[in-house]
Amino acid sequence: MTDNNLIPPFFSSNDCILYHADCLDLLSRLEEHSVDLIFADPPYNLSNGGFTCKSGRRAPVHKGTWDESRGIESDFQFHTAWITACRRVLNENGTIWISGTYHSVYASGYALQCTGYHILNDICWFKPNAPPNLSGRYFTASHETLIWARKSRDARHTFNYDITKNGEWSEDAFKRPERQMRSVWSIPSPKRAEKRYGSHPTQKPRALLKRIILSCTREGDTVLDPFCGSGTTGLVAYEFHRRFIGIDSEKKYLDLARKRFLNLVDSGEGNIR
Ligand SMILES: C[S@@+](CC[C@H](N)C(=O)[O-])C[C@H]1O[C@@H](n2cnc3c(N)ncnc32)[C@H](O)[C@@H]1O
Repeated sequence: MTDNNLIPPFFSSNDCILYHADCLDLLSRLEEHSVDLIFADPPYNLSNGGFTCKSGRRAPVHKGTWDESRGIESDFQFHTAWITACRRVLNENGTIWISGTYHSVYASGYALQCTGYHILNDICWFKPNAPPNLSGRYFTASHETLIWARKSRDARHTFNYDITKNGEWSEDAFKRPERQMRSVWSIPSPKRAEKRYGSHPTQKPRALLKRIILSCTREGDTVLDPFCGSGTTGLVAYEFHRRFIGIDSEKKYLDLARKRFLNLVDSGEGNIR
């Protein structure tokens, strides 16, 4: 997974590498077909002057300039560009996951189809602890959509059926033991303990990444997250003996990812190679 074209990593330890870069640049430097699974949580393009509810109070939605919309066409071009760049580094039987809300996920899904991927599932991630809608003029937003796709219709993707059916998924009130896992997942937003080193405005719960990584990869596989933020994907990859490459354009989030990762290693949880 190393290449002479690569810039020096921001952090590297125990098969976890973090790069401080624009993902379009870094993806173009990675070796072709070198990655088994991509989890991408791109900007949702929703920081546009709206309001949400935080700790029971009205609060502006402003996650960062990186999350602002630049208009429908321009947002779509961005999603098409990074999804195309991911295609080059993904191996032929590898798969990609993309998360989003309606602000971005339809654009990502269309871009996937336009660039030749084959969609396998869309997952409704239901958040049982979603904050209320204060205006009382809309349904309360309480889910995100995740799209799972392989590179082509004929590819042979990894799906660990037995783990999905019989694994330990007790956080999910919808999953019944020894029954097939369905496409609606009930997983709470990150717990307080997951934010003890600081928080990222769109941090994903470890339980969500555990499900994706255990269902769709094998030990030793390489997982890439081109928008890694606080490093949730990397922590779970390490915990379950997968290699990890993370990219983010904001140093403050990479600092947080590094702290979380080092703490996990120090705690002795997960794998130490
Ligand atoms: C939705 S957040 C990801 C959160 C992450 N899944 C977590 O659990 O913390 C998107 C991230 O993409 C980063 N980002 C935005 N544009 C980027 C770009 N062009 N290249 C790399 N990172 C980018 C932002 O800094 C932000 O941390």
